[in-house]
Amino acid sequence: MYKELIKPLLFLMDAEHAHEWAIWIANKTNRSDILQNIVHRLYGVADAKSSEQIWGLHFKNPLGLAAGFDKNGTTPRAMQALGFGFIEVGSITAHSSTGNPKPRAFRLPKDHSLINRMGLNNEGAARIVERLKKLQLDIPLGVNIAKTNDPSIEGNAAVEDYVESYLLAQQVADYITINISCPNTGEGKTFEDPGALSELLAGIKQKASQVDPPAKQQGISFSSTYAYVPTTVKFSVDTTHKNLVKLVAICEDYGIDGYVATNTSNSREDLWHSEQELSSIGQGGLSGRAIAKRSLEMTRWLSEELVEGKPIISVGGIDSVNSALERLEAGAHLLQIYTGLIYEGPGLVSDIANACTRN
Ligand SMILES: Cc1cc2nc3c(=O)[nH]c(=O)nc-3n(C[C@H](O)[C@H](O)[C@H](O)COP(=O)(O)O)c2cc1C
Repeated sequence: MYKELIKPLLFLMDAEHAHEWAIWIANKTNRSDILQNIVHRLYGVADAKSSEQIWGLHFKNPLGLAAGFDKNGTTPRAMQALGFGFIEVGSITAHSSTGNPKPRAFRLPKDHSLINRMGLNNEGAARIVERLKKLQLDIPLGVNIAKTNDPSIEGNAAVEDYVESYLLAQQVADYITINISCPNTGEGKTFEDPGALSELLAGIKQKASQVDPPAKQQGISFSSTYAYVPTTVKFSVDTTHKNLVKLVAICEDYGIDGYVATNTSNSREDLWHSEQELSSIGQGGLSGRAIAKRSLEMTRWLSEELVEGKPIISVGGIDSVNSALERLEAGAHLLQIYTGLIYEGPGLVSDIANACTRN
């Protein structure tokens, strides 16, 4: 039904408008047990007999909703009903932001891809965390944090900005992702510079250590020694192997608990759309099938070479059961989707979750 009826209607709208419409429906579902039951009956995933344990959390299935779809945390229960095994909300930032000027999201249908320069629009960490405090969810909740999209916040202030979001996210998150790879901010800079990453992790760790960890969590990792929750770092798909080696070494020094590979790309190579079409769209992060190969490669670099055995969330261009299974074979422990959902529809969630769940 999605591909025949709903998708053609949604694709008549501008990409962001269609997304707002989807969020509106999901938010209504989020507030209604009846609608959640209907969604679960239509699309939901049968409860697995076994569940995967990662960071001490139970994952009924390894498929999660990627950051960016639900920036304000208004739809997690609806997404749970759809069959996701976990949800990552955000990116949230210390200060609210309306993001970049519109239009800022574009479809590339020939490539099953999107380009976006949303610019970290969100209602702000404090407000979103208050909303999430009221949430009752049966699956793990990740909160993705980023720096407020304001070029005047730099240096120490930028670290403080992340710390503010981290400390708030700690109150509600089962795990926190530190997004160091958003390409869509005014200053265009990210924390993927080794020196900047080191300062950031040191700053977060120092402030988080002032919050007493719960007695049950004792150990040597970033989370168990210094904070309430497991903490991952999210890399851009454009990260070179050389830089990834450096960044991972820094993360390991700080005891980061896992990695999210990957965020979007600035590249426009090997796309079916013409240069003219692409230049009329302009800047932004490329997501979807066009980045699948690179995202898979980075998952392999991490799992086979750099951090064998450490939890890896693979994300970027997963849009079928086969592409999901390929990521698990490449060493990913968990998966996330965003763009695949737009092109394949909500049925993709149960297709992948059922195929990946060990019954
Ligand atoms: C419109 C849009 C907004 C996004 N916003 C965020 C964000 O706020 N934080 C983040 O870490 N990733 C964000 N992402 C990146 C996704 O989480 C994901 O890493 C990327 O899209 C690759 O996955 P996909 O190919 O399944 O979409 C966004 C992606 C899209 C398409």
